[in-house]
Amino acid sequence: TGKGTIASLLADRLGWHLLDSGALYRTLALAARRHGVDLDAGADLGRLAATIRVQLEGERVRLDGEEVSALIRTAAAGVDASRVAVHPEVRQALLGWQRDAALAPGLVADGRDMGSRVFPDALLKLYLDASPEERARRRYKQLKEKGMDANLPDLVQELRARDARDRERTESPLQVPPGGVIVDTTSVPIEQVFARVLAQVDAALAARKG
Ligand code: DC
Repeated sequence: TGKGTIASLLADRLGWHLLDSGALYRTLALAARRHGVDLDAGADLGRLAATIRVQLEGERVRLDGEEVSALIRTAAAGVDASRVAVHPEVRQALLGWQRDAALAPGLVADGRDMGSRVFPDALLKLYLDASPEERARRRYKQLKEKGMDANLPDLVQELRARDARDRERTESPLQVPPGGVIVDTTSVPIEQVFARVLAQVDAALAARKG
């Protein structure tokens, strides 16, 4: 839904830190592939998470010192991430990494369970939504622009399967958290989405000041 773009624009505008939590799941999945750890073995993955070092610096992601930013952005890495993300041991292991990112002056955290689980006391919880068809079209455009091969019906299919897995898992399923504000982005240009998000942020900051 362009949430990564919006989160990054917002962090820039506010001068706050940015957490791309999906990158953590993607990187853990990559580490699992490399260490030969089964993506369905939750306890093993949890133990693996305790032994690796993942660093996020803006768009850059490092795994044990090696830059893996491009490697974790492939569609296959997204599917792997969604597989490791179903395990409670994994979610528990990554909870600390994510909460450690909450530093002054503030944090914009991007991810499916930010408001529901990781930061239940967040000042503002935004849930960006778009139809699978729209998201597939955006992804298709991105892949084509990078000169990669893509097929629109396959992308729609993949997204639907991933959504179902993310929603139906028992551990921190994808959901609108209590108090969450839904922003539908289907057919809305990114500048307008950002304007809507900014209006919500301004209102939340003003309300906090009282
Ligand atoms: O946002 P993304 O595409 O980088 O996320 C990849 C996968 O990681 C997604 O399918 C589910 C998982 N994920 C998660 O379960 N919880 C998060 N906070 C972020 C990502």
